[in-house]
Amino acid sequence: MARPKYNLVTDLTEDLIPQPAQATRMSLEDFLSLPLEKILYVVFLTGADVGRVKETDIWKQSNVYCIEVVGELGDSEAFSKFNCFSTMEVPTISSVVELTMKHIKLHHEQKIELKTLKDVLNHESRKLKELNEIGQSLSSISDPQVLMNLILEKSRELTNADAGSICIVKYNNEEQPIEMVFSFFQNYTLKQNLKVDLSMPVSKKSLAGFVALTGECLKIKDAYEIPEEKDYAFNQNVDMSTGYRTKSILVHPMIDNTSTILGVVQLINKRSYDYEELEDGKVNVDQIVEFSPDDVEIISSLTSQAAICLKNTTLIQDIQMLFEGFVNASVTAIEQRDPTTSGHSFRVALMTVELAKALSQVTTGKFAGISYNERELQEVRYASLLHDFGKIGVREQVLVKAKKLYPHEMDMIRTRFEYILKDVEARMLAKKIEMIQSMGYDMANAHFGQLDEELKTSIEEIEEIVYFIIQTNEPSVLEEGNFKRLLEIAERTYLDPYDQPKPFLLEREVEALSIRKGSITADERKEIESHVTHSFTFLSKIPWTRGLKQVPTIAYGHHEWLSGEGYPNQLTEDEILAQSKMMAIADIYDALTASDRPYKKAIPVEKALSILNMEVDRRHLDGELVQLFIDKKVFKSAENY
Ligand SMILES: [Fe+2]
Ligand SMILES: [Fe+2]
Repeated sequence: MARPKYNLVTDLTEDLIPQPAQATRMSLEDFLSLPLEKILYVVFLTGADVGRVKETDIWKQSNVYCIEVVGELGDSEAFSKFNCFSTMEVPTISSVVELTMKHIKLHHEQKIELKTLKDVLNHESRKLKELNEIGQSLSSISDPQVLMNLILEKSRELTNADAGSICIVKYNNEEQPIEMVFSFFQNYTLKQNLKVDLSMPVSKKSLAGFVALTGECLKIKDAYEIPEEKDYAFNQNVDMSTGYRTKSILVHPMIDNTSTILGVVQLINKRSYDYEELEDGKVNVDQIVEFSPDDVEIISSLTSQAAICLKNTTLIQDIQMLFEGFVNASVTAIEQRDPTTSGHSFRVALMTVELAKALSQVTTGKFAGISYNERELQEVRYASLLHDFGKIGVREQVLVKAKKLYPHEMDMIRTRFEYILKDVEARMLAKKIEMIQSMGYDMANAHFGQLDEELKTSIEEIEEIVYFIIQTNEPSVLEEGNFKRLLEIAERTYLDPYDQPKPFLLEREVEALSIRKGSITADERKEIESHVTHSFTFLSKIPWTRGLKQVPTIAYGHHEWLSGEGYPNQLTEDEILAQSKMMAIADIYDALTASDRPYKKAIPVEKALSILNMEVDRRHLDGELVQLFIDKKVFKSAENY
């Protein structure tokens, strides 16, 4: 088919002339994928042709592309497939073609401009999106140190800064800034990402100090060319020691919503768009550019978001520390009531948390799939620390009771028997005097030997009773025979100074000495056991934040048994939380091995572990958890506490 259109453009100016002879054919697909800035395009139509579009050819010529549409003139469907600028019928005059080509150029330039605007818009919205994302990640961080690191990292990323540092401003009681604490130094060229804790007094002489005191942002083109009349100066010492060359700097304050300067971000050496790293690992100074007003704007936005997050996290951390301090003080206070158990709660907390961590790793058995996160571990920790807090509601003498009788009761018994001894002696002497008076000394004296013998027997008997009581007072198991003997003693009486008969032992003393095993009576046991309910009541009064709500319930279950015979609620295996089951193991282990109980010898580790296994057999403790406690040597986690 003849292509008359080529003749139309022969008298155009040189740069606009398509050269059909050198034209190459390309597909429509390739044409559409050409980068916009490289193409000019025009559509020529073979006006003589009629009928439907049958074929499309694209003729590539330098940066001018001729599209030949073979089809009906004005076929909108055909044209919509291309970036159709103009259509012409052939034949036509060259001036019209030239004008058309000029319009094409103009159209093309407008398109390029539009694309640039779109690029700028895209770039801005990308930045906005990025800032938004950074804002979201900043607000999800609860550790101020992690937050500071991220603020610095993102500030550098957004401004293309090679290095930077971040510090917190500390204030005195008069709200005067007194100190800057640097926490992170990052330097890409020196391959450094240092976590530090470097304090410096706040002074206008340093760049960061100036910003911390004035709240102004500093944008410096070259750190080595700061005019002398400025208040601040750049300290070149660090550069000298590292071989680094600091050039452009941006120092920006982190100001919160109450206009308090919380910290300062320093960004160093903005890399140019086409920055090339040098092989010697030095800064490519020629390609370090000044920070732009755009950078200032973006850092301003980032730091104000960061400051609020930092303030919040610091506040939260302060509250956590306050609460932590309160918990520690409470535990210490409760343990001081019973020095023999000092450190118990802290050790139980260490071991229970360690066991919970170990359980999170377990992949088989009934606990597979359980995984405690940081918050849940904290929940377990608080529950463990405070599990025995309810002992505050138990009388101290009951808590520390080491023998069957309270010390004051034993003292009273001793005094009573001393009186009985002296009374027996006195009565014997009275009897002797009476005999002397009635029968004369010589006659009476003849009976004295027998009387002395009787006295000796009585004294020995009383001393033996006292010895028996001292023995029975020990918390060991009471033999049946001894119980009978105790009742016999209790039935005996002596005469008080008014000659009234009094029992050798009071009812309450007999009851205490009759304890079959251990040192406490049934009522005292109940009183001690009530500590769990006291703990629960106390802990329930604390408005635990989300994530710590189970603290009271976990603590409530630490004396429950799998068999359902524990206290105070006789929960069954399914009803007891795994956290409480773990705490029960740590609690028993510590009670067995604690070496600071004067009335109870510490049990060696091996023996204690085998007792735990016995507790498993009796369905008091969970077998899998005890096994884990032993296998992972969880018990060692508190051995140095
Ligand atoms: Fe307890
Ligand atoms: Fe305990």
